[in-house]
Formats: sequence, C-alpha cells, structure tokens
Amino acid sequence: MQIHVVKNYDEMSKKAASIIIKEIIVKPSLILGLATGSTPLGVYEKLIEAYETGLISFENIKTFNLDEYIGIPREHPQSYYSFMNEHLFKYVDIKKENINIPDNDINRLNEIAKEYNNRLFGNQRDIQILGIGANGHIGFNEPGSSLSNQTFIVELNEETRKDNARFFNSLEEVPKYAITMGIKNIMYSRKIILLASGKKKAEAIYKMAYGDIDTRVPASILQLHPDCIVIIDKEAASMLPTNETFIEF
Ligand code: F6R
Repeated sequence: MQIHVVKNYDEMSKKAASIIIKEIIVKPSLILGLATGSTPLGVYEKLIEAYETGLISFENIKTFNLDEYIGIPREHPQSYYSFMNEHLFKYVDIKKENINIPDNDINRLNEIAKEYNNRLFGNQRDIQILGIGANGHIGFNEPGSSLSNQTFIVELNEETRKDNARFFNSLEEVPKYAITMGIKNIMYSRKIILLASGKKKAEAIYKMAYGDIDTRVPASILQLHPDCIVIIDKEAASMLPTNETFIEF
C-alpha cells in the first residue's frame, strides 16, 4: 500500500485524476471501476476537463460501478445511476453499452447480483476508484460483512444511512438496502485508488492502514492488495502515526 498525503481536496482529486488519465492514454480501452458519493466528484470534474481538451476519450472505456440503492427507481435523482449520469457520463463520449451499474429491480435481485458478479469476473478492472465510509466500509461492504463476499444484497447500517441522509430530504427517505460489489470483486482489480478527505475519515484511514485485517473494518483488506494507492488530504491523515507525505508498506 502506498499512501500519499496531499494538501487538500483539490490536490487529492488532481493526483488521482492524473494517474487515471495516464493509464487511459496508455490503454484507451481501460476498464474503470467507479464510486459515487462526495469524494470522487473532483476526480470526475478533472476527467471531464481532460476529455474536453482532447487528452482522453471515453469511447472505448468500460465502467463498472460499485453499488446501487435498492428501493428507489433508477430515475430517482439520488440513485447512483442518476448520480453517474449527472456527474460524469452526460459530459463524455462513453457508449451506453459500456456503462455497468447494478440494476435494482426488486423482482430480480438474486439474478441481477449473479449476473453482475459474472460480468465483474469477466472484466477485471484496470483501476478501481474507492471512497471510504467513516465506519471503514468500501462499496457497501459494511463492518461485519465477509471479506470473501461477491456481489450481494446488503442491509445498510444506521451510520451509513445517517451519513447519506444529507442527499435526501430526511433519514426515512434513505434506502435501507443496496446491491454492492463484494470485497472479492473489489480486490479483483489490477490497481485500486482509495480517496479520502476530511477529519471525519481520519479514524477509518488509520484503522485501514495500521489496524488488523478485520471484518469490522472492511477497508483493512486493502493491506493485502498488491497495488493499492491511497490519496488523502491532511485532515484524513491526521491520525496517522507519522507526518510523512509518502508512506509505503
Ligand atoms: C459509493 C460507495 C461508498 C462511498 C463512501 C464514502 O459508491 O460505495 O463506499 O465511497 O460511503 O462516501 P463519501 O464519498 O460521500 O464520503
């Protein structure tokens, strides 16, 4: 694991975007794993800028999102399907058929999970972008979920629902379930870039990097990934036991 500590959110976004842009230039048919939430928004802005200046194209890129809520339609403004469209896809030349986000039709959930899982194993991600929950979750692999999980249906824990309530009118509106890549799917990526900014993530980052590998902190499994780059701002790094800006394990 490599940890880069940068000044602020903008520097974090720039650094992550520049790694992704370089990889796209070398491999225009990159398979990219995407996350939603506040953290990767700056990266998506920078990728859109790179597309607009002609540096990269999304024409041959395939994307796979980590997760999707269950219980709201895909057209709901807070579905991850809408989120991706709003913050990335509608601005670039990605082909519809190359976008993969788990469907959330409640009548077919088991089938959908199986089918998404097969697609993931047939398409190893070149890069997987990750955020991290304050409770150490990655994707929606909440504390306690098995580290060998494949794509599955998860009941969101209360802390996660409260954290995400900022996007909804009230806590009651936040879905209780989601479909998510399992840890096994996330680990099946050639490179992982985990991003975090702000004090709220400091404890999770400390436990992820320095704690035991433990289902109570799902992100701790990343200690075992052969190419995991963590890019965090100073606040998210504030509980690390060193002031170094580059740490390698
Ligand atoms: C999003 C996802 C989540 C978020 C995490 C952090 O697709 O899978 O794991 O990355 O909850 O969310 P933010 O970035 O909003 O703090």
